[in-house]
Amino acid sequence: MDKAQLVVNATTFVRNELEEDASGHDWWHIARVTKLAKYIAKKESADEFICVLAALLHDIADEKLNPVGGEEAGLSRVKAWLESQHVTDDTTQKVLEIISTMSFKGGNRPQMKTLEGKVVQDADRLDAIGAIGIARTFAYAGAHGDLIYDPKIALRDHLTKEEYRNGKSTAINHFYEKLLKLKGLMNTNTARELAEKRHTLMEQFLTDFYNEWEGPLD
Ligand code: ADP
Ligand code: NI
Repeated sequence: MDKAQLVVNATTFVRNELEEDASGHDWWHIARVTKLAKYIAKKESADEFICVLAALLHDIADEKLNPVGGEEAGLSRVKAWLESQHVTDDTTQKVLEIISTMSFKGGNRPQMKTLEGKVVQDADRLDAIGAIGIARTFAYAGAHGDLIYDPKIALRDHLTKEEYRNGKSTAINHFYEKLLKLKGLMNTNTARELAEKRHTLMEQFLTDFYNEWEGPLD
């Protein structure tokens, strides 16, 4: 099968799987990350096909979407799908390596090994910051029953994966626990440049948020 057809098939597969998801991993997140990955891949001379395929499939194995069996079951599903498409072993191995290592999970993760992995991770991280990132954060908090903000809930630093996933937090705290760190964690120069404006927007947003929270001083 040619590469273009495979991308079309992967798009259909992922769209069907994630159409209904409201936890921040909906189809439109995948569409944005794929577009960003393609753009960054071009600029960084990475393998565009691998980047696009990995971007399309990157959330299929997420724990939140695999309540039974977790990430491992999710990865097997991706592998089975790639095999059903008669993808070469080399491509399957590259894609699986990327999607099994790229998630944030509190930040305790080793560096991505390949340029393509770096590109896809950057694309996913860019979609977590800026105006879109702000929107996703409040959508996620709402879906998980967290408050917008509570001055009594302290900021958490150096989170373990379990604390990051299960501890009590708020949408505003998430900016400090993850989002404001992402600019400094970008792998490629292209993503670092794109992150700049998005980062500044979040800082501005937080400043205004606290100003409004305090209310006008008389
Ligand atoms: P990934 O695993 O791809 O790094 P997540 O699944 O952790 O990302 O998050 C999906 C989206 O929800 C992201 O935009 C992320 O910033 C946001 N998010 C994750 N955890 C929280 C949280 N505790 N509060 C608010 N938003 C969150
Ligand atoms: Ni993602």
